[in-house]
Amino acid sequence: MAYTMVDLCWKLSVCFFCYQVVLGRVKKEGHYVAAVYEHESILSPNPTVLVDRQSALELMGRNLDIYEEQVVAAARQGAQIIVFPEDGIHGFNFTRSSIYPYLDFVLHSRSVKWNPCREPYLFNDTEVLQRLSCMALKNKIFLVANLGTKQPCEYTDPHCPTDGRYQFNTNVAFNDDGMLVATYRKHNLYFEYAFDTPPEPDYEVFDTPFAGKFGMFTCFDILFFEPAVNLIRRYNVKQVVYPTAWMNQLPLLSAVEFQQAFATAFKVNILAANIHHPTLGMTGSGIYTPVKSFIYHNMEGHGGKLIVAEIPVITIDYENNLESNKRFRENLHHSCKTFTSTSLDDQVCFKEGEETAGRASEKGKEQLLPLFYAEMMYDNFTLVPVWGRKGELQVCANTLCCYLNYRRAVLTDELYALGVFDGLHTVHGTYYVQACALVKCGGLSFSTCGQEVTDATALIDFQLWGNMSTPYIFPLLLTSGITLDFADDMGWKNNHYYISKNRTSSGLLTAALYGRWYEKD
Ligand SMILES: *[C@@H]1O[C@H](CO)[C@@H](O)[C@H](O)[C@H]1NC(C)=O
Ligand SMILES: *[C@@H]1O[C@H](CO)[C@@H](O)[C@H](O)[C@H]1NC(C)=O
Ligand SMILES: *[C@@H]1O[C@H](CO)[C@@H](O)[C@H](O)[C@H]1NC(C)=O
Ligand SMILES: *[C@@H]1O[C@H](CO)[C@@H](O)[C@H](O)[C@H]1NC(C)=O
Ligand SMILES: *[C@@H]1O[C@H](CO)[C@@H](O)[C@H](O)[C@H]1NC(C)=O
Repeated sequence: MAYTMVDLCWKLSVCFFCYQVVLGRVKKEGHYVAAVYEHESILSPNPTVLVDRQSALELMGRNLDIYEEQVVAAARQGAQIIVFPEDGIHGFNFTRSSIYPYLDFVLHSRSVKWNPCREPYLFNDTEVLQRLSCMALKNKIFLVANLGTKQPCEYTDPHCPTDGRYQFNTNVAFNDDGMLVATYRKHNLYFEYAFDTPPEPDYEVFDTPFAGKFGMFTCFDILFFEPAVNLIRRYNVKQVVYPTAWMNQLPLLSAVEFQQAFATAFKVNILAANIHHPTLGMTGSGIYTPVKSFIYHNMEGHGGKLIVAEIPVITIDYENNLESNKRFRENLHHSCKTFTSTSLDDQVCFKEGEETAGRASEKGKEQLLPLFYAEMMYDNFTLVPVWGRKGELQVCANTLCCYLNYRRAVLTDELYALGVFDGLHTVHGTYYVQACALVKCGGLSFSTCGQEVTDATALIDFQLWGNMSTPYIFPLLLTSGITLDFADDMGWKNNHYYISKNRTSSGLLTAALYGRWYEKD
């Protein structure tokens, strides 16, 4: 089949792509086939009770049985790499001591080359690693999974915990021969008292013959500079594997929304696998390129979901995003003092001390808009309502001003608001956020703005921009039913970051610029 196609290419010499067959699947040149599995893990009914290693292995074995089925299914579809979620094998809600029987021994050393499937006798307490390694080997596929690991330490080590061992939340990567090629220990733990933070951040990459090097990190890490951003910067990583156990939080931090934003912001591919526990708000996995996403988000159904997609390898060094973002700061100059235009192409500025937050127009009538405060994601946002058919709005807080030009393509009676937040987020983690957000409110009163909303019908054409002080901006575009759309355009212009979109594919839930100002954490 492939042979004839390649043959045809040569004969006709009109094909732009050549094809090769990977396990029965025709694969485009410069592309690879990736798989992620959203897993509903079988959880321990009493995670705080101490069990023996055998019982722990039995429970984890049931999850690994499901992993094995999915590896076979993915390989059959031509996948060259598969990623499993954080906590998928052992579960969660353990204490430091009750998780112990679930931990495999992993040597975090690059000098030791080890194939757990072929050399199981080298280390004790490595049953989980052995099974994963054998799945990779048997199915000739790169495999990434997350498990709990232990590493004994000496009392002479000043960081060594009092019980004489480190316990890490660890990602492991195996090549298609079952060789353990990378281990990454989660750096930004999310209230995981069973685990230790590694003394130094791991920057872990592994090489593949089909897409070059992959970097990896875990869940909450995605919000921080170390190691995620630094890894991408230092190693020029273009492919990321990302096991996660993410609780969705609307309107700005649902799993698929932020995963896509990370891929677009850094112009990388991300293979993101979440666990599936809708009662805990956990769902949302996908395979993301900077311009296209294959996602799964399902708050209703039970069971797992395998996503397989063929995506292009990112090889071209895109005009370096981070560097060009840094340059904008050097050009920062004082904003002008008089209002000239709300068009981003001209200098963006409003009259100093202007009382109103903006204007909405309805058949020539102009309305002045009230400012109000509402809690969004536990942060005190300053907002203005988005009224009327079209208008121009500005709203500021601290040093950040956000601007919106909008036109409602489909008028509905839904309330939207433009909000700004520039401050330290302190609930469920401490991190500094600069955000400009156009959101659909929960109801028709101002106090509902910032609430979690999942459906919308209004279509709004918009340009949203802000004078952010950080180069790290994650553009969010979430539409009705937790679907995603891509902006028509985004980037820096006149020292402002902007995003614009005409005609979202369905009703608008959130359009936002979520900036992370890492230095101020
Ligand atoms: C784990 O803990 C969370 C929060 O403490 C709780 O809501 C959840 O029900 C627990 N899950 C399990 C499976 O025990
Ligand atoms: C594994 O454990 C057994 C029993 O405790 C011990 O005899 C053996 O030396 C250990 N092997 C390794 C490689 O540590
Ligand atoms: C939100 O911030 C405003 C302005 O600083 C303040 O007046 C208001 O009390 C704050 N609201 C809450 C709930 O903290
Ligand atoms: C953003 O714009 C506002 C209004 O012009 C200005 O007061 C503020 O200083 C600007 N922030 C930065 C960081 O330049
Ligand atoms: C979006 O709509 C605005 C206003 O209707 C228009 O000026 C602009 O050219 C449109 N942009 C695109 C990319 O179609």
